[in-house]
Amino acid sequence: MAKEQDTAPVRIGPGGKTHSPLGFGGFYFDATQWAGDNAEIVLAAMKRALEKGLNHFDTATEYGHGQSERLIGQFLAAEPGRRERIFLASKYQANDISFEDMLAAVDASCARMQTDSIDLYYIHWPRAGKDLRPWMEALETARQQGKISAIGVSNFSVEQMQQVSEVGRIDAHQLPYNLLWRFADRDVIPYCEANNIAVVTYSSLAHGALGGRFQRNQAFPAGDQRRNIVLFRPDVWPQVYDAIESFKRIGERIRRPVLHLALRWLLHQSGITSVLVSARHSEMVDSNAQVLEGDIADDVFEELTAISDRLMQQIPDTGNPYDHHP
Ligand SMILES: NC(=O)c1ccc[n+]([C@@H]2O[C@H](COP(=O)([O-])OP(=O)(O)OC[C@H]3O[C@@H](n4cnc5c(N)ncnc54)[C@H](OP(=O)(O)O)[C@@H]3O)[C@@H](O)[C@H]2O)c1
Repeated sequence: MAKEQDTAPVRIGPGGKTHSPLGFGGFYFDATQWAGDNAEIVLAAMKRALEKGLNHFDTATEYGHGQSERLIGQFLAAEPGRRERIFLASKYQANDISFEDMLAAVDASCARMQTDSIDLYYIHWPRAGKDLRPWMEALETARQQGKISAIGVSNFSVEQMQQVSEVGRIDAHQLPYNLLWRFADRDVIPYCEANNIAVVTYSSLAHGALGGRFQRNQAFPAGDQRRNIVLFRPDVWPQVYDAIESFKRIGERIRRPVLHLALRWLLHQSGITSVLVSARHSEMVDSNAQVLEGDIADDVFEELTAISDRLMQQIPDTGNPYDHHP
C-alpha cells in the first residue's frame, strides 16, 4: 500500500514534534565506526542538515562510546533555539537488563547531549530469551518524569514487542529495511501498523550500497564494519549488485539517481514513518535533501518493488543484515 504524500512532515508518539520524514543518522560521528571524520566536518554536516530541514537526529549511547551524543550536545549548545527545532532520538542497550541502569542511561544521554529531555528513546537491541520488561518500565518512568517523550524499540521481534507492551507503550520501532532487505514485511511491520507504532528505517541505503557507488568487485578496508554485512557476502553480493544495476537503469530513464529511488521508495511505503540516512559530510546532506524534491510516478515505485521482490527470494534471512544476535 502506498502513501498519498510521501514527503510530508511526520510525527512520532502522541503530541510529538512534527519533523522531516527523512532523518539524519549519527552513526558515523566517530572515527571508530567506519570512515573516520573529524568533529568540524560532523558539526558542519549537522548545521547543514538543520538548514535543509532534515531535523530528525538519530544517535545512540553506543555510537563512539558516547562521542556521537557528545557532538550533538556540542551542536545543540552552540546556538540558542537549536534544541527546539530538532526531533532528537537516542538509544541504549546493555548485557544486563536492569531498570536502574536504563533510567541512569537516559540521564547520561541527556547530560551528553546537553538537554533536559529527549524526544524519542529506544531500547537499542533486545536480548534473546530474556525478560525485557524492566527496560520498558524504566522508560515509562523516564517518560513520566518528563525526560523522554516517546519510547522506541529497535531490532525487536513481534514476540519481544508483545512482551514489553505488557508494561508500557511502544511509539516507534527502528529496524533495517530497504529495497534489498525487506524481511520486516513478513510480520514486524504489519504488527507495527496494526498497533499504531511508527516504523523508522535504518540501513535505508543498505549501508551505502543504494548510494550507487559500489563496484561489482567492491572490497572494504580492514576494520570496516561493512565486511560483516550479509548483503556484501561473496555469495550474495553478485545478485544484489545486479538488482542495483536494474534500479540504476530505471533512474537513468527518469533522470534521478538510484539514491533518490531508494529513499523515495521507502518514504512511499504506507508502513514506513521515517527514513534515516547517515551522511558523513555536508555535501552528502545536500544530496540527501534533494531526494525530497519533485514527484516520482507510482509505476516507477511498482517497477522497483517488482525487482526487489525477485531479489528477496535470493537473500538469506539471517534475522538482521549484521547476522548479529545478542
Ligand atoms: N538501530 C540500529 O541498530 C541501527 C543500526 C545502524 C544504524 N542505525 C541508525 O540509522 C542511521 C542510518 O543507517 P546506516 O548508517 O546503517 O546506513 P545507510 O544510511 O543505509 O548508509 C549510510 C551510507 O550511505 C552512504 N551515503 C549516504 N548519503 C549518501 C549520498 N548522498 N550519496 C552516496 N552515498 C551516500 C554513505 O556511504 P559511504 O560511507 O560509503 O560514503 C553512508 O555512510 C545511522 O546513522 C544510525 O543513526 C541504527
